[in-house]
Amino acid sequence: MEKIQLPYRSLSNKLSLNETLQKRVSCRNFDPRALFMQQLSNILWAGQGLISKQHDMRHTVPSAGATYPIELLVAVRKDGIEELDPGIYQYISKEHALKRLSNKDLNEQMSRACFNQEFIRKAGASILIASEDSRTTRRYGDRGERYVDMEAGAAMQNISLEAVEMGLGTVIVGAFDDGAVKELFDLQELKPLGIMPIGYPRDKAFYA
Ligand SMILES: Cc1cc2nc3c(=O)[nH]c(=O)nc-3n(C[C@H](O)[C@H](O)[C@H](O)COP(=O)(O)O)c2cc1C
Repeated sequence: MEKIQLPYRSLSNKLSLNETLQKRVSCRNFDPRALFMQQLSNILWAGQGLISKQHDMRHTVPSAGATYPIELLVAVRKDGIEELDPGIYQYISKEHALKRLSNKDLNEQMSRACFNQEFIRKAGASILIASEDSRTTRRYGDRGERYVDMEAGAAMQNISLEAVEMGLGTVIVGAFDDGAVKELFDLQELKPLGIMPIGYPRDKAFYA
């Protein structure tokens, strides 16, 4: 499958952490303008990226026993991201790259799978936070499932804050049909946990 290198994440530092937290709010009204690869790069890095090449295992989110059960997939709609074809991609954190899994624009089906949450259609891309629980339950038994959920929450909060920092909007979507989402993304062993549509807030004063 085709691999696409993401640009190095930028450390723009426009807002302090406290300013970012102060502005965090769910966004459900997107302007359909295309996002840039740099923005996607930052979002994915915040959600599951490696901190540096020297610290091979250190990610932007902690992981119980460093078992790393979380995977991020991206559904890109047509004209959703500059220089990126529509389709489904998997984030490869070790390489900070995308692996293309399909070239279908699944935006409408995604919205339907999320019980017709219409705003998903306008987002340039939607991030699926998914898990392979066995990586963690192998070591921790049933309690590992709780650890996976905790990690997913940490990843989603990082993505939320990174979006605010770049002036983008997002919301955690937990209401969806598991079976339909599994089928759309062809998830096999992975379990879908949350979906985060990413886009420009339609209201220019959204973060004012
Ligand atoms: C686990 C979880 C699931 C959620 N699912 C949805 C959802 O399916 N659709 C939606 O529009 N918002 C969803 N939300 C967003 C909440 O509605 C939102 O965070 C809440 O209303 C508080 O608003 P705020 O985030 O703007 O502070 C979810 C939030 C969480 C934490």
